[in-house]
Amino acid sequence: VIAIAQELKSALHQYPNFPTPGILFEDFLPIFRSPDLFNKMIRAFKIHLDETFPNIKIDYIVGLEARGFLFAPTLALAMDAGFVPIRKKGKLPSKLATAKFTKEYGEDYFQIQLESIPEGSNVVIVDDILATGGSASAAGNLIQQCKGNILEFDFVMELDFLNGRSKLPAPTYTLLSGQSEQLK
Ligand code: PRP
Ligand code: MG
Repeated sequence: VIAIAQELKSALHQYPNFPTPGILFEDFLPIFRSPDLFNKMIRAFKIHLDETFPNIKIDYIVGLEARGFLFAPTLALAMDAGFVPIRKKGKLPSKLATAKFTKEYGEDYFQIQLESIPEGSNVVIVDDILATGGSASAAGNLIQQCKGNILEFDFVMELDFLNGRSKLPAPTYTLLSGQSEQLK
C-alpha cells in the first residue's frame, strides 16, 4: 500500500492560487485518467478496509458530492457493498435528513435519503480530501440521524494542519498522508 501511495502521490497535479490566491490546489483527477492508477487507488483502499475490518461486513460506502462521487461507487463494487450518495441540498427526492456545514464562503447543507441507510448498517464515509472537516462531520451527522454505524472516514488526501479529523465521530484514514502546509 505504501508503494502504491507513493505512485499515486506523484500523479497529483498542483495548481498554485486556485481557486483563490494563496491556495495550492491538489488535483487528483490525473489518477482517473489512468486505469492502472485508478485501479491501484481502489485496491489500496480495499486492502486497508479488509485489514482493518476483517470480520465485519461493510454494508454501504457513502460518498460526498461532488468529488467523493468520482470513486465511491467503484470502491463500493470492489467491497461488495452498496453505494449511497450524500448530496447538496435540493437535489434528492423522498424523506431526507439534512445537516448544515460551513465553507469558506458561507454555509451549505448536505442531505441523504432516510431509507438509504437501514438502522444499524455498517457504513464507511469517503471523500477526496479532509480539510476543516466541516463537510465530513455533516456527513457523519446524517449517518447518525439514520442510526447507521460509522466504521471509518476514508480520504485520499488530508490537510492535517487543519486537524479536521478531531471533528469526526469515527476513526479516520487517509491514503496519501503527509501533505505540506498550504495545500487545499
Ligand atoms: C471540497 C472537497 C471536500 C471538502 C473538504 O469539496 O471535495 O469535500 O471541500 O473541505 P472541508 O473538510 O473543509 O469541509 P467542495 O464542496 O469544495 O467541492 P466539490 O463539490 O467539488 O467536492
Ligand atoms: Mg467535496
